[in-house]
Amino acid sequence: MLKLTKLATAAALVAAGSAAMAGEVEVLHWWTSGGEAKSVGELKRIMQGKGHTWKDFAVAGGGGDNAMTVLKSRVVAGNPPAAAQIKGPGIQEWASEGVLANLDATAKTEKWDSLLPKVVADVMKYKGNFVAAPVNVHRVNWMWANAAVLKKTGVAGTPKTWDEFFAAAEKVKKAGLIPVAHGGQNWQDFTTFESVVLGVGGAKFYSDALVKLDQKTLTSATMTKSLETFRKVKAYTDAAAPGRDWNLATAMVIQEKAAFQFMGDWAKGEFTAAGKVPGKDYICAAAPGTASAFTFNVDSFAMFKLKDAAAQKAQADLAAAIMGTEFQEVFNLNKGSIPVRLNMDMAKFDDCAKLSSKDFVETAKSGGLLPSIAHGMAVIPAAEGAIKDAVSQFWNNDKMSVADGVKSIAKAAATK
Ligand code: BGC
Repeated sequence: MLKLTKLATAAALVAAGSAAMAGEVEVLHWWTSGGEAKSVGELKRIMQGKGHTWKDFAVAGGGGDNAMTVLKSRVVAGNPPAAAQIKGPGIQEWASEGVLANLDATAKTEKWDSLLPKVVADVMKYKGNFVAAPVNVHRVNWMWANAAVLKKTGVAGTPKTWDEFFAAAEKVKKAGLIPVAHGGQNWQDFTTFESVVLGVGGAKFYSDALVKLDQKTLTSATMTKSLETFRKVKAYTDAAAPGRDWNLATAMVIQEKAAFQFMGDWAKGEFTAAGKVPGKDYICAAAPGTASAFTFNVDSFAMFKLKDAAAQKAQADLAAAIMGTEFQEVFNLNKGSIPVRLNMDMAKFDDCAKLSSKDFVETAKSGGLLPSIAHGMAVIPAAEGAIKDAVSQFWNNDKMSVADGVKSIAKAAATK
């Protein structure tokens, strides 16, 4: 028995060596919209250029909830992909199951520690070892607007406060267009919610409420005001919003059917794919009241332990490629995000990306740099899921009082 195993191992090593270590890399992600598919296509191209085989494991569903369900079943069955799009505290949870690979050798050769902001590097590590590779920095607290719609409905300038926003929304509504393009899916409701909380309460309030999950803050008068504002935003969405995918909501803005969308800058990937120009066709502005803050959402690939030597080599090459300058530039140009690798040349990026980059650096100093709760950056997945559900229950049920909404969100936040 022992001999057989040894023989098999030796044969596997010979086979792997003779194939010049070209391996297959199976990558789980949820990038299926136009801009997203273009972006991930660049990673595929780079990996194929290194001689590896790309096995696409795309699970549709914005925000990644479906992808995470599928991933769990694959790992439980003992058949994980080489890499999966896993983010924030979720990385730590997976690592604590003992299923993630140690990427320190690649990280050391490629000098990841000196090329990444420390707040990002820390999230990619478990007990001091790299187990995931970051691809980008998305900013969540954006508001997208169609310039022509604003013009023809008489909205002068992009609203900077919630009062200005509602005045603008009223004008758009009177002109017979849809003020807010929204897709009624839990994660999209939650995305809007976090921007409203940030805009109404400010950075410290957001951090106490949605990062520290402090009960006193969660049940405060400012939370009441946040929920009132959130409900008011809903009044400016259309009746067909429930269930709509986020990229279809972005398309409504692109096609001049709607004025605004609250969405992270993956929405910019859709504008870019449609050939639209920021500042001319559309406007990117911080959500009302949030200009001096930045809710970040760092996409990253956690790597799973693999047995096959060629697959391990392909996996290490994937990790190195993700942090390489070629990928960081071309991927983020398409995706709408900014490079996570420090000191990248931003010359080819548009004004929205340049603003994002500047604000990322500035908010890191001012205390306005905050993890996005709606995108897996702020709290453990169980608490995030519970709060997300409570937020959508409130959003979907106009009969629920604001007081009950506040209570149910605070209760959900106590989920361990
Ligand atoms: C991810 C983005 C993705 C978006 C929509 C977010 O959680 O971070 O990369 O484009 O969901 O699917």
